[in-house]
Amino acid sequence: MVKIFTAALSLMLLASVISDQRLSWFNEIDDDNINEISNARNDNTVYRLPQNVIPLKYHIYIDLFFNERTDRPFSYDGQEYILIQAVESNVRQIVLHANVDIIHDVTLLTENNVEVALNSSNRFETEPLYHFLKINPVAALNTGTNYTLSIRYTSTMNDGPMNRGIWRGWYKDSSGVERIYATTHFQPYNARQAFPCWDEPLFKAVFKLHLSKPASFSGTFTNTRLERSVTLAGNRVRSDYLETPKMSSYLVTFLVSETFQPISQDLTRNPPIRIIGRSNTVGLGGHALNLAVKLTDFFDEYFGIPYSSLHPNLLNDHISSPDWASAGTENWGMVSYRELHLIVDPNVALMSVEHYSATLVSHELAHKWFGNYITCYWWSNTWINEGYASYFGYMATHQVFPEYELHDHFNSRYLQTSLAFDSGTGTVPLNHDVNTPAQVTGHFGTISYSKAAAFVRMTSNIISLETFRKSCRIFLLSNPLRATDQYDLLKAFTEAIQEDNSLAAYPNFNFTEYYRIWVNEPGYPLLNVEVNHSTGEITLTQERFFLSATAAATGQIYPIPITFSTKRNPNFSLRPTHIMTMARDTVRKDQGEEWVIFNNLQQGHYRVTYDNKTWDIIADTLYNTPEEIHYLNRAQIVDDVFALMRSTRMSYSDGFKILRFLASEINFHVWDPAISGYTWLRNRLRHLPEHLAEFDVYLFNQIDYAVRTLGFEPVARETPTTAMARQSILHFACTIGHTRCIQESLKQWENWRDNSVAVNSRVRRNVYTTGMRQGDARDFEFLLNALDQTNYANEHLEILRGLGAIRQPELLNRYLSLTLTQTVRYHDKLNSFNFALLGHQDNARTVLQFVKNNINQIRNTYVENSPPTPVHSALSNLASYLDEPELVDYENWLRSSQTDIPQFTSTINAITSARNNMNWGTQNADMIISATKGSSASAVSSIVLITVALLSTMFYRE
Ligand SMILES: *[C@@H]1O[C@H](CO)[C@@H](O)[C@H](O)[C@H]1NC(C)=O
Ligand SMILES: *[C@@H]1O[C@H](CO)[C@@H](O)[C@H](O)[C@H]1NC(C)=O
Ligand SMILES: *[C@@H]1O[C@H](CO)[C@@H](O)[C@H](O)[C@H]1NC(C)=O
Ligand SMILES: *[C@@H]1O[C@H](CO)[C@@H](O)[C@H](O)[C@H]1NC(C)=O
Ligand SMILES: [Zn+2]
Repeated sequence: MVKIFTAALSLMLLASVISDQRLSWFNEIDDDNINEISNARNDNTVYRLPQNVIPLKYHIYIDLFFNERTDRPFSYDGQEYILIQAVESNVRQIVLHANVDIIHDVTLLTENNVEVALNSSNRFETEPLYHFLKINPVAALNTGTNYTLSIRYTSTMNDGPMNRGIWRGWYKDSSGVERIYATTHFQPYNARQAFPCWDEPLFKAVFKLHLSKPASFSGTFTNTRLERSVTLAGNRVRSDYLETPKMSSYLVTFLVSETFQPISQDLTRNPPIRIIGRSNTVGLGGHALNLAVKLTDFFDEYFGIPYSSLHPNLLNDHISSPDWASAGTENWGMVSYRELHLIVDPNVALMSVEHYSATLVSHELAHKWFGNYITCYWWSNTWINEGYASYFGYMATHQVFPEYELHDHFNSRYLQTSLAFDSGTGTVPLNHDVNTPAQVTGHFGTISYSKAAAFVRMTSNIISLETFRKSCRIFLLSNPLRATDQYDLLKAFTEAIQEDNSLAAYPNFNFTEYYRIWVNEPGYPLLNVEVNHSTGEITLTQERFFLSATAAATGQIYPIPITFSTKRNPNFSLRPTHIMTMARDTVRKDQGEEWVIFNNLQQGHYRVTYDNKTWDIIADTLYNTPEEIHYLNRAQIVDDVFALMRSTRMSYSDGFKILRFLASEINFHVWDPAISGYTWLRNRLRHLPEHLAEFDVYLFNQIDYAVRTLGFEPVARETPTTAMARQSILHFACTIGHTRCIQESLKQWENWRDNSVAVNSRVRRNVYTTGMRQGDARDFEFLLNALDQTNYANEHLEILRGLGAIRQPELLNRYLSLTLTQTVRYHDKLNSFNFALLGHQDNARTVLQFVKNNINQIRNTYVENSPPTPVHSALSNLASYLDEPELVDYENWLRSSQTDIPQFTSTINAITSARNNMNWGTQNADMIISATKGSSASAVSSIVLITVALLSTMFYRE
């Protein structure tokens, strides 16, 4: 899946789109002060099932009822027959998962259909806390024979996607009629809401579904091909589907609707590749189909195990769901996507959305092998599923669609995200014990996606891409349809490495030890580089890097793949020259003063710092001849410098001297970490208007060249990366009040409003948000009307983001009230709440009033009990946008009337964090401002600066 952060109620949780593919729409909100939900890890293995009985095959009959069933609308009856076996002797209790409303009856039969006696005073019992269903035969089960467990039950569909299981959503069909559909989202532990089962990934079994529904619900899709349909009484139809391969329960899925249909398909394939969606997306699936077809071909070839050979009954469907709690989920044969990410029309989508969509389809397809064919044994190993899928989401897609340059974007999406998260004191290793549902959900986070993907890429560079591919094939072929753990994967690596002798260049390198440390130890190193320029000797030392200046050193040594470039040898190559396995090491370069950069293209999962002299040379080079240093290393330096400053290893004045080169930089990759770093600082100055104004002048100078060079409209044949650079730089520039950005965006806004000249989709974000920030009731109504008109999920979301930037309290209130209605879908409610906070600094005050007036409706409509805990996030996020008098107001209200709400403690903690952030700002504001002045970029006037920048461009840019 692509996922969300749940354990951390951080503002980054604003990224709370639990994507089974995770999203980060909100990287403009910083990730500080993470309030971890405490997940005590003591006796939690009680949440795990015993492994003395295993399921072999499920026959599942589910009768779905919609509003035709007036006595209990949106409910279902289930009847299942599970073929089971006791694999230990003396089993006197069968324990499986169930989280359904009522279990009516349980029976156990032998293979000859003889009923097995159950304890008459206690046939079965449930333990709701653990979702256990326990069945009590009178006598111990025989081993080695099959039994059939039959369970009859009833339950209710969830309203909306947030709580997963079987849930219902709504859409408008091509005639504008509102219709209901029902679908499933089971990853990671929600199949048990649909049918009692062994709901842990290691219990792989065959599933056969029989779905009945009203006859009008003909748009029904699931993992496998239809076997037959049977007409039932009461104007109902039952569809029987062919058996699935042996697989984990979380991969079962279906969608039942009246008018969903294939909207784009390639029937020449076996199985056909189909994009499925609601009826008024017909014709809009071409982009997704192209991705799915070409990526399926790629993976067939790369893994050497064609999709069509995985199982004869499996489909290759990709379904676009108007509601989805994550970005996408890899149900085998039928991947589900949030519509936003699958229905992509390049003429309507933001470039970041089109870009993300390509990585998502690839991520989910990669799961068909890494995740479905072989599966993590338990969620502690989630990183194997998610790390590989995330790696392939970028690296495979780069092979097939090189125009997206995804190999470069890997760094900002995964590597830098991981370096930021994994430098906290509360971080965990890739492989780490989880037991409770909350812990399981929490492990679908940065570590399992980003760090794992970065680890996989770093490892592939050490052993070579060819050996890496071989290790994938060995892993898949040795574990077909099995659940695996880190040792199975290590075995595949070891075998491939031995066959290819691919570590010959590193004679004393113990790969097992490298793997053990990176997989089982938390954190990562900071590499200290000291160059003796006259002798050419370079001394390397390492320590674990913590963002906190006060964290205690750990002494952990990490094996570090060493790569470096110099002015005389600017190789920027990815294969390490050697692996550093000690605390201290030396390497050599040519004699003489020159720049030296370690961690070529930021491929290794570590940070780097240098002696003062070398930093000075790097800073001068970046300023005078930036193109000498690869843009991914310019990006690395920006990312590292911000982290070094925050951890007090580097002063702000030294750091800003290095960063002054940004004043003539336009590269997306370089600006991305810069925008995050500057936003982090800006958020700490927001309560000090004079300092903030001075800081913004510095930022205008830094960004002005990029704004002017990239311009305000897409240019023919520019690369997607350039379009993304414009998108994020304009959005940032307009947000901080860059005059030209605002003027140009307003011009486009007015041209749309007054002359119906559509805004180019690639620059929609800055135009909509600026139009609203500067707008009045007329503008608001205009955009609200556009919200009503659009048929595109991406346009809908961008309009919501725009509306959130309106400043007039009564209009903002109307916007916020929309989040309590179905106009804002469940998965967008928290996003939309955040848009109001992000829209304008003054908006937080209105949001506070809204929260105080509507707390009960918010808790209810935002679905506070859903795993992403959206209400916790909303209330915490609000705190970081308030000033001190408002915080007092917020805190008084909470303490006087809200002590009983589940979010009380986390919100009080967020208020404390907000105060700490402001205090940090108050203490450091003068120092920061003086650092901005010390960097020569803002010492000169912006006019001079721009001239300099233009000159340097003429010499050093193409
Ligand atoms: C049946 O269940 C009751 C109540 O839990 C228990 O006391 C009794 O020992 C059980 N009988 C057998 C044969 O296990
Ligand atoms: C149990 O059922 C499985 C799956 O249908 C079958 O392959 C196996 O032969 C059966 N075992 C016995 C002992 O009948
Ligand atoms: C490599 O490291 C592993 C532990 O990670 C150890 O068991 C093994 O003995 C080491 N091999 C060699 C050759 O030192
Ligand atoms: C490096 O520079 C910093 C300040 O810029 C200074 O505090 C530090 O002492 C210098 N280190 C050395 C070894 O000169
Ligand atoms: Zn995934």
